[in-house]
Amino acid sequence: MRASHLEDYYTFLRFPSVSTDEDYADNVAECAHWLIEKLTAIGLEAKLMPTPGHPVVWAKNKHQPGRKTVMIYGHYDVQPPDPLDLWDSPPFDPVLKNGYVFARGSTDNKGQILAHILGIQETIEKEGDLPVNLHLIIEGEEEIGSGNLGNFLTQNLDAVRSDVVVVSDTGMIAKGVPTLSYGLRGVTALDLKITSAKMDLHSGMFGGAVANPITALAQLLATLHDKNGHVAIEGFYDKVKPLEDWEREMWQKLPLDGDQEVLQETGAPALFGEEGYSTLERLWARPTAEINGIGGGYQGPGTKTVIASHAMAKITFRLVPNQDGPEILELAKAHLRKHLPPGVTMEITDGHSGPWYLTDPHSPFGQAAQRALREAFDGKEPALIREGGSIPITSQFRSIMGVETLLLGLALADCRAHSPNENFPLENFDAGIRLNKAILQELAQ
Ligand code: BES
Ligand code: MN
Repeated sequence: MRASHLEDYYTFLRFPSVSTDEDYADNVAECAHWLIEKLTAIGLEAKLMPTPGHPVVWAKNKHQPGRKTVMIYGHYDVQPPDPLDLWDSPPFDPVLKNGYVFARGSTDNKGQILAHILGIQETIEKEGDLPVNLHLIIEGEEEIGSGNLGNFLTQNLDAVRSDVVVVSDTGMIAKGVPTLSYGLRGVTALDLKITSAKMDLHSGMFGGAVANPITALAQLLATLHDKNGHVAIEGFYDKVKPLEDWEREMWQKLPLDGDQEVLQETGAPALFGEEGYSTLERLWARPTAEINGIGGGYQGPGTKTVIASHAMAKITFRLVPNQDGPEILELAKAHLRKHLPPGVTMEITDGHSGPWYLTDPHSPFGQAAQRALREAFDGKEPALIREGGSIPITSQFRSIMGVETLLLGLALADCRAHSPNENFPLENFDAGIRLNKAILQELAQ
């Protein structure tokens, strides 16, 4: 690993480019500017494209007729670093320990997108140019749903036209095992607020005579699932595309024990999920309803005899082919209204959402991706998987630009993305640089 590569990596990681929190807006902008400088320095033409939110970084080489055009997409924004006290070292002060770099964004997604940039840099240094026409799109709003990127693509459609998109923002099933992800779950969100009295009440003076909004919320949330882990919303599974036999068989043969991995990584006392499906199937091909946050009432030390005026919950659904986000939201709202206990009112607010993605790993582009993965990982056979996470823009690459996305991820199961002590092994950083060279070469054919 060149010293200058590591320096670039650390510099990139030191920007606290947290997209969801206004307080970090200047840091997000500074990070984008640094990318423009870096991309210009390696010989690309780089432009900062403002959006109503955080800017998009767009860079290209000199395009020549007759060559394939490849878009490489990634994101420079990161999730908030909190809870800070659970980090062993400060989140925006990268440290190298036993071959792993620890910092927010080290895996998701700065390490992975920088590996592409450095692969491009090395190729331009050696060959004077890339084998393809390149669009490099690095956005600052992936972690908040990519709300402005679709418009950016639509507005610049002629200029950004590409034959295929390459993304490194997904996982590998194990260290050293190259992985092509051909599917992602989607996500859709809603917030709930349940209100009873117009103010907090003395539970002795009023308790028993009016509904308790926290009790009502608990009862309501409990109706979302049945005892077997199925989502109990009517119609929720109607459009779910069943797993294909070839996928089931292929996943059973993967060098990965999903049960073992989840138990070990999470520390949960037991596995739990929808009956009739393996852990990998539950994660990669089945939809879920998750309560992500719940609140209401007294949270301080000791006791407070109070009936809170309201209670709230945040819910997201992970979606799979062929579920429709807006339709699922409507079904969920109808379910919540139907099961709302008496004596309270309810307000529902829609959150951000993004569709699932599914492509064919055996298409000509999929095969090129598999060849590139073999080259970058010592001839090892790539694993073909789907993923539980979401990258909302992938479905828009298809709907807006009409192109497929190759997901060549480098994240490991223990990377702690979105969590304290996020980390990325230099081994994968290096593999990412090799992978960039291999994929551009393979796609050029
Ligand atoms: N890199 C992840 C997506 C991912 C994670 C794909 C794990 C495959 C496996 C991405 O940065 C992410 O976290 N996406 C969010 C999207 C959401 C905010 C709309 C997600 O999945 O929660
Ligand atoms: Mn993420």
